[in-house]
Amino acid sequence: MNHRVSAFCMIPLLACTTKSADTAEESTTVDPYSQELWEEIQGFQGWGQYEGWEGVVESDAVHGDYVSIWINDAALSALTTGETIPDGGMLVKETFLDSEGATLKDITVMKKVDGYNPEGGNWYWGQYLGDGTVEEAGSPAMCIGCHSSGADYVRVIGE
Ligand code: HEC
Repeated sequence: MNHRVSAFCMIPLLACTTKSADTAEESTTVDPYSQELWEEIQGFQGWGQYEGWEGVVESDAVHGDYVSIWINDAALSALTTGETIPDGGMLVKETFLDSEGATLKDITVMKKVDGYNPEGGNWYWGQYLGDGTVEEAGSPAMCIGCHSSGADYVRVIGE
C-alpha cells in the first residue's frame, strides 16, 4: 500500500517540476550575478577617468547623447600602461540625455571576470536603470558586437 501511495505522489511532483522549469526559462533575462555587480560598482563616481574623457562628454555611441566614464584602479592602471585589464577590472559608463549630466538614461558596466567568457575577452556586461533595474546582463551580443572594434573591447581608447 505504501508503495502504491508514493508512486502515485510522483505524478504531480513530476508535473510540478516540469512547470517550474518552464517558468525559469521565461525569466532567465535577470542573471543573479548582475545584481551582485550592481552592488559592487556602488561608489563608482569616486573612480578614475581616462585622459580626455573627464566629466560629462559627448558620446560617439548609441548609449545616450552624453556620457561619463569611470574606471576602477585595476582597469585604469592597465589602460595607462597598455597592459591587458586584469580580473576585477571594471569600467562604468553613465549616459545622460543632457550635456550637464542632469538626466540619467542608464548605467552600463563591463567587468573582467576570469574564465567567464574567454571568446569574448572574459568581459561580463551589464546595463541598468538608475535604480538598479537590470536591462541587460551577461554576454549580450549587441554589446560585444559593437565593442569588438575596440582594443580588448574597450571603446574609449585606441579607436
Ligand atoms: C553601437 C555601438 C555600441 C553598443 C551596441 C554598445 N556600446 Fe558601449 N560603447 C560604445 C562606444 C563608442 C563607447 C565609447 C564612449 C562613447 O563614445 O560613448 C562605449 C563605451 C562603453 C563603456 C565604457 C568603457 C569603454 O569601452 O569605452 C561601457 C562600460 C560600455 N560601453 C558598456 C556597454 C554595454 C554594457 C553594452 C550593451 C548593453 C554596450 N556598451 C553596447 C559603443 C557601443
